[in-house]
Amino acid sequence: MILECIDLDFNGKGVCKKDGFVYFIDNILKGEVAEVKITETKKNYGFGEVVKYVRKSPYRTHDFPLSYANLYHLDNQIQLDYQNELTKETFKKISNIDINVEKIITDDKPFYYRNKITLQVKKVGNQLKLGSFENKSHQIEVLESHLLADEVINNGIKQLNNLFDKYPLTDESLKKITLRSNNKDLMIVFTTSTEKWNEKELILSEIKAYSIYQNYAEVEEENLGGISTLLKGKPSLPLELLGLKFRLYPTGFFQTNYGVTELLYKRVLQEIKPITYLDAYAGAATIGQIISKKAKQVFSVDINQDSIQSANESIQLNKLNNVEAILGDVEEKINQLEVEGIIFDPPRSGLSKKIIETIMSKPFEQIIYISCNLRTLSRDLNLLLTKYKIINIIPVKMFYQTTETETIVVLDKM
Ligand SMILES: C[S@@+](CC[C@H](N)C(=O)[O-])C[C@H]1O[C@@H](n2cnc3c(N)ncnc32)[C@H](O)[C@@H]1O
Repeated sequence: MILECIDLDFNGKGVCKKDGFVYFIDNILKGEVAEVKITETKKNYGFGEVVKYVRKSPYRTHDFPLSYANLYHLDNQIQLDYQNELTKETFKKISNIDINVEKIITDDKPFYYRNKITLQVKKVGNQLKLGSFENKSHQIEVLESHLLADEVINNGIKQLNNLFDKYPLTDESLKKITLRSNNKDLMIVFTTSTEKWNEKELILSEIKAYSIYQNYAEVEEENLGGISTLLKGKPSLPLELLGLKFRLYPTGFFQTNYGVTELLYKRVLQEIKPITYLDAYAGAATIGQIISKKAKQVFSVDINQDSIQSANESIQLNKLNNVEAILGDVEEKINQLEVEGIIFDPPRSGLSKKIIETIMSKPFEQIIYISCNLRTLSRDLNLLLTKYKIINIIPVKMFYQTTETETIVVLDKM
């Protein structure tokens, strides 16, 4: 069947329509026409793949996307247009909000910007292999280099590939390897399924890094969980953003593109009023500390112990006396702390019903909602609009070559 692509969906698949059906096709860009093989059909939609292109887009830059970069084949400027459109369309569709969005925030580094990646380890035959999982298949693909990760991480990948080539490693308790950098130094975290790990000493004698940890994760699906033990080097990576000092620990959250993160934080800072704030889902209290220049008082709340340890250390280093880092669940702390404004930066699932109820029953002067998921963001905003009005919607392109989005929404009490 011949189809024309009219749009790209949330996952970068091409959207095509024919005879009342919507088809989601791999590796076809807006404006492209192709002969397509349908691989799966549902009631009124289906999935498929390209057999042969009839017309290619002038904005196609590569023949294929990559397993970790699903917009790698699309021109960088068009990636920005895609995010702008997706933001507008999602707000319109889910919450019937028809509003202009501000100019997208980004920098000029479309590659080599990531400061953290996780590699998978899997036994193939009788030897461990290191790489990334190819889409869905769980087949391991050796990564020679990573086009989105910074140079420090790419050097770490080289070291690890050499090690896996040199020794026939066999202990399957090693599951994942996370590499993190501050653009200068490398932290490597070896995630194992059991505390006992037979090849630990061998690996430690071969690998050089600023900081090396073992992380023993009880739940297999988690990249990093459970207990972290420092095996070699320094306990944390030092980092400076916007003139403030931070410390990165193995499982603590930290944004993975420092350049664009600084731009995002600067834009948030512009909106800050001289009032008290809850910095909810705070990670290492980065936002809390940055806004402390303008805010009266900030309470930064996060549920992760490593993040709060890192927050406390940097609040001390930065000598800030109007920021307090608090370990706990936002759902509980939001009712215990007396504040006038809130900054939310939740995980992909967005805000819970309980939190929405709290912010509706006690309207706060200002809410700044930073989100990495347009759908849950629109869903939540839809519930707030009888008490709050939207002042600004600001898309942020944090992750070039991918469909990942970041968005800042500024709301005031009506
Ligand atoms: C997107 S990150 C926030 C990042 C942070 N604002 C920053 O800019 O670096 C989400 C954070 O929410 C935290 N978190 C998840 N569920 C939570 C909960 N119920 N209560 C408090 N924090 C939570 C995670 O530990 C993680 O640090």
